[in-house]
Amino acid sequence: MKSQQPQQRPPSPTSQPIHTLIFCFLVFGFGMAIGTTLVNSFPNNRYFSFSIGPRTTTRIQSSASSTIAPPLPPPPAASPMESHHNPASSCVHHMEDEELLWRASMVPRVRKYPFKLVPKIAFMFLTKGPLPLSPLWEKFFHGYEGRYSIYVHPHPSYNQSFPKNSVFHGRRIPSKEVKWGEFSMLEAERRLLASALLDFSNQRFVLLSESCIPLYNFSTVYSYLINSDRTYVEAYDLPGPVGRGRYSPRMKRHIALSQWRKGSQWFQMDRRLAIEVVSDGKYINLFRRFCKNSCYGDEHYLPTLVSIGFWGRNSNRSLTWVDWSRGGPHPATFGRAQVSVELLERLRSSRTCEYNGRRSNVCFLFARKFSPESLNRLLAVAPKLMKFS
Ligand SMILES: *[C@@H]1O[C@H](CO)[C@@H](O)[C@H](O)[C@H]1NC(C)=O
Ligand SMILES: *[C@@H]1O[C@H](CO)[C@@H](O)[C@H](O)[C@H]1NC(C)=O
Ligand SMILES: *[C@@H]1O[C@H](CO)[C@@H](O)[C@H](O)[C@H]1NC(C)=O
Repeated sequence: MKSQQPQQRPPSPTSQPIHTLIFCFLVFGFGMAIGTTLVNSFPNNRYFSFSIGPRTTTRIQSSASSTIAPPLPPPPAASPMESHHNPASSCVHHMEDEELLWRASMVPRVRKYPFKLVPKIAFMFLTKGPLPLSPLWEKFFHGYEGRYSIYVHPHPSYNQSFPKNSVFHGRRIPSKEVKWGEFSMLEAERRLLASALLDFSNQRFVLLSESCIPLYNFSTVYSYLINSDRTYVEAYDLPGPVGRGRYSPRMKRHIALSQWRKGSQWFQMDRRLAIEVVSDGKYINLFRRFCKNSCYGDEHYLPTLVSIGFWGRNSNRSLTWVDWSRGGPHPATFGRAQVSVELLERLRSSRTCEYNGRRSNVCFLFARKFSPESLNRLLAVAPKLMKFS
């Protein structure tokens, strides 16, 4: 095209137009060169699809892309809710971790949103594969579309999908293998957080597993989390082999033994803390390098990070009830026989705690672990007891 252009013009009788023509040609060529360089320097041409909007861009295949599918555009410009409520949009995103964390770490400097923002809660399910208790969760979420976002991180080899009418349909994020107690668990948690951060309307982030159940109805859980002035990361100092014993002196330049903490993996946090977690390079690298072999980073990373840097707004408790009373490396699992109104009542209100500066008897919003066999019993008692709408 460049070489043809001069020929398309009539031959010039004078030298002046020829100079102009050459000049134009040079400017055109120069422009092309700059354009091409710029486009290539931004991977997958993403910067040039900013204005196109989420739905259109997902259909543009980028030739430069090495990933299987086109990338998600940056946090949506028009409406953050739109893409997530479009039943056709089944892809949450297709980014690799490095880019995902980078994108998720961005914070808008203009405080006022250019759209009506309805705060949502991100429910992040870290699973092995199936979600056997999903029928209970479906009932929990029913009627609250637009107030929640779901993200599922299963084992990458898991190949079943949820039916179209399920709230879990299309909510799977690109996942990697997770080994129990290993560093890959932390990576998966950050992958879930980062994926959820891409939607600006997500204001609270809850980590769940396939064996978790809700203990209250959606409206109670929603208002508890959205109106809370705290983050929910439990952290305590524990002498002995399963606490301080997991600390590595090789971390000591950045983490002192006295700063080492343990706590429940099952966190609930706000956007501010979630952004800090995905942006952290320093502590996560220490864990990657030195928290190995029976270190169980998922029980130490967040408790330690939050106690060192973000303690002021933390409640120092988890909202997920777990029964460790039997001892050992795994908490108790409740099966069909154990599930009863009495059990659920006990989990719901056997304790008091502080909530927004007042005593409250709502201290746990979720509980684990419940076996797949407990589903029918749960369906029989939970919706009525918890007043699902
Ligand atoms: C799903 O995975 C199982 C084994 O993991 C395999 O037997 C089955 O063929 C796979 N199904 C599809 C549709 O890929
Ligand atoms: C956090 O809670 C634990 C109990 O789970 C307690 O031992 C510890 O002192 C608390 N930390 C702070 C700083 O209050
Ligand atoms: C949810 O449960 C609370 C009690 O925990 C109840 O007061 C409320 O009416 C329930 N909400 C709906 C929409 O049923």
